Amino acid sequence: MHTTELSFDLRDDETLVSSKIHFYKNPKYQAGDNSLFLDGIDLELISLVIDGERVDYELSDKGVQLRHLKGEFVLEIVNRIHPENNTSLNGLYQSSGNYCSQCEAHGFRQITYYLDRPDVLSVFTTHIKAEAGRYPVLLSNGNLSSASPGQATWHDPTPKPCYLFALVAGDFAVLEDHYTTLSGREVALKIYVEKHNIGKTQFAMDSLKRSFAWDESRFNLEYDLDIYMIVAVDDFNMGAMENKGLNIFNSTFVLADPKTATDKDFINVEAVIGHEYFHNWTGNRVTCQDWFQLSLKEGLTVFRDQEFTSDLHSRSIKRIEDVNALRTFQFAEDAGPMRHPVRPESYIEMNNFYTLTVYEKGAEVIRMIHSFLGEVGFQKGMKLYFDRHDGDAITIDDFVSSMSDANEFDFSKFMTWYSQPGTPTINIKTDYDEKNECFYVEVEQDNEFDYFLPLNYALLDDQGSTLKEGVLTIQQQKQTFVFDQIKSMPIPSWLRGFSAPIHLLSDLTFEQQIFLVGHDSDAYVVWDSAQQIWLSLILTPNTARELLFFNAIEKLVQTRQDKSLVSEILTLPSERFLHQKVVVIDVFDIHQKREEMASKVLGRFKSLLLETYHSLNHAKVYQLTPEAVGERSLKNTCLYYLSKDKGSNPDLARTQFEQANCMTDQIAAFSALVASDNSYKKQAISNFYQTFEQDVQVMDKFFAVQSTSPLATVADIKQLMEHELFSFNTPNRLRSVIGGFTQNYINFHNQSGYEFFTDIILKLNQSNPQIGARLVSVYNHWGRFTPVLKQLQKQQLERIIQSDDLSNDIFEIVQAALK
Ligand code: PHE
Ligand code: ZN
Repeated sequence: MHTTELSFDLRDDETLVSSKIHFYKNPKYQAGDNSLFLDGIDLELISLVIDGERVDYELSDKGVQLRHLKGEFVLEIVNRIHPENNTSLNGLYQSSGNYCSQCEAHGFRQITYYLDRPDVLSVFTTHIKAEAGRYPVLLSNGNLSSASPGQATWHDPTPKPCYLFALVAGDFAVLEDHYTTLSGREVALKIYVEKHNIGKTQFAMDSLKRSFAWDESRFNLEYDLDIYMIVAVDDFNMGAMENKGLNIFNSTFVLADPKTATDKDFINVEAVIGHEYFHNWTGNRVTCQDWFQLSLKEGLTVFRDQEFTSDLHSRSIKRIEDVNALRTFQFAEDAGPMRHPVRPESYIEMNNFYTLTVYEKGAEVIRMIHSFLGEVGFQKGMKLYFDRHDGDAITIDDFVSSMSDANEFDFSKFMTWYSQPGTPTINIKTDYDEKNECFYVEVEQDNEFDYFLPLNYALLDDQGSTLKEGVLTIQQQKQTFVFDQIKSMPIPSWLRGFSAPIHLLSDLTFEQQIFLVGHDSDAYVVWDSAQQIWLSLILTPNTARELLFFNAIEKLVQTRQDKSLVSEILTLPSERFLHQKVVVIDVFDIHQKREEMASKVLGRFKSLLLETYHSLNHAKVYQLTPEAVGERSLKNTCLYYLSKDKGSNPDLARTQFEQANCMTDQIAAFSALVASDNSYKKQAISNFYQTFEQDVQVMDKFFAVQSTSPLATVADIKQLMEHELFSFNTPNRLRSVIGGFTQNYINFHNQSGYEFFTDIILKLNQSNPQIGARLVSVYNHWGRFTPVLKQLQKQQLERIIQSDDLSNDIFEIVQAALK
């Protein structure tokens, strides 16, 4: 297609869409039969003409079939849609009375008839007409070519697939700024928000400028248009969308100030702003040939946003957080019924494949390529990639070929990472030969296929000094490595920085693990060793070992400078993570065991925790430096334990709650107060509500803290749903109440929890199946629960699959779970 000209007439009870598309035959994509099928869903066709003439066509609920076409022609279509009733939040819809759009992956077909596929690129011109008073801001991709009250025309000079199309119409406030690119071009930056939010946009603007600057300095990539716009809306299924020149964001990833956003929220806002900006090159200028290639843009762009955060904040803490999330959620996905390769081979509903595997494991795969090539080699590969493919829709193989060719590095064995699902297991056995001063390492793969991966390691002496360090390239089923001139038995530090997304089993002893916690210079290994120890002590208590470990922790708390790291080490593995480590999930037993460990920590360390808490609890001007973040993090981890003490609860939390000068401290105290029965709880809830009821982001926290409280019952959740600020059609709110409850294992996992939840899924099946499919995935692991819960979950899945009118989204998840 050469060009696509769209006209939108936005009216209260309908929207009229007219399109004029200049087609030419592209032998690459169309069979020789001169026919064309245009996708279209939930559309009302009003007229269709080709070169000004009426023609025959066949209409179905999936689109329109055209036949006997010429090699080149102009198609004109008028159709009607109803954004005012659209609760799916795909296509064109309304949020707080403003119009916005979401087209990835298949939303454009809910706007008009089109070749809705990522490898069909066209130059778009968009006319928008709407009542001037209520919709003073009219936006689309590219540059504004003309505007007058009630109408605007936008032209996007860069050919793009329709999934990157966007339209916005409404009443917004705007924060404006500009950025001068490396080559001296001036770009206008605009962030549009609902008027009452304008005071919470400065951090997003600063993040956007940092994103521009970082992509120039680290990747040598500059922005291409004269304008970059971000619009924040409260109703959005995902985090944000990289539409060309006009990003649309879930307002949670735009709005932030210290009073309402936590440290994590700030860093997430910056990361998502970065992520969408980085898509301009990795996603928009070079896009996917088909949706199976999704990780081409997502894995690479997540890797880029992770590096952005790492360069700007604490690299080691960022890595620990990412690995923790990957192992807790992606590993579980990869072991469940919806497991799929980073490059999936089939789908029923594409929206179900915006997964942790495609995104986070995809980013790990890119990280391994980066490890093999180094930063310089990787950038050489990126340069060749853009030289070859700028403006194209391509495959993952094309990306890897660029990396290969630029570096003369053979990645053919590496492709298993893209084609095989599941987390590989690697076993390491070692042997020290004192006489010959040799250290033997045997690495064995316990997988159906052999993986090619970098295994970062160091060998430490008994003082913790590095004897040797480097990367072992693993590529065969079994490999032996020999290190000579090793004068005494070394302590190996494996998989430093989590250099590959695997399960690693090694023959490290308990004492060696403790040694690594105390001595390793690699923060990931320190944290991971501590996690392994917590895990074993929680699941199989052992007093002697516990004593050894607690002694090591005491030393660490007193001596380690990095407060964030200390905080991470003091944080017990989550219940969700523990679930993966047992054969049969007994939610009550796991909850109990974890609570017992928390009591033991409190019992042993009460005075140290209190001392640490008070030494860190000083009113300071809010800063987002790693040091300040670390201090708050450790302080609030101490508060978590101390609040379990009848002696200091609720006073400590109450004082912090009443005096907090930032949301990080406020929400930590609020969570502690809501998690237990105490005299101040009711008052805390009502104070918090009165202070923040106007703030949508804080109200999401307000709901989530209550729905995840270990004291919340189904009746409490129903009551939250009766709250005047509860909104079923707003995904963020639904996630905080219902999503929160599904993670409240001890209260969710029972018959009434399930029945209540299934009713919600069936309702979402009608209103927003995409969100319904995400939520229903909580049943994916039903087969691993204790017999009664297993049976009950199965019944719920059967109830869902037997219901009429099941959406593709929910059907796909549920049928996989039942298989
Ligand atoms: N492409 C978006 C991103 O990763 C995510 C998204 C997918 C948003 C589908 C909406 C719908 O940045
Ligand atoms: Zn993305």
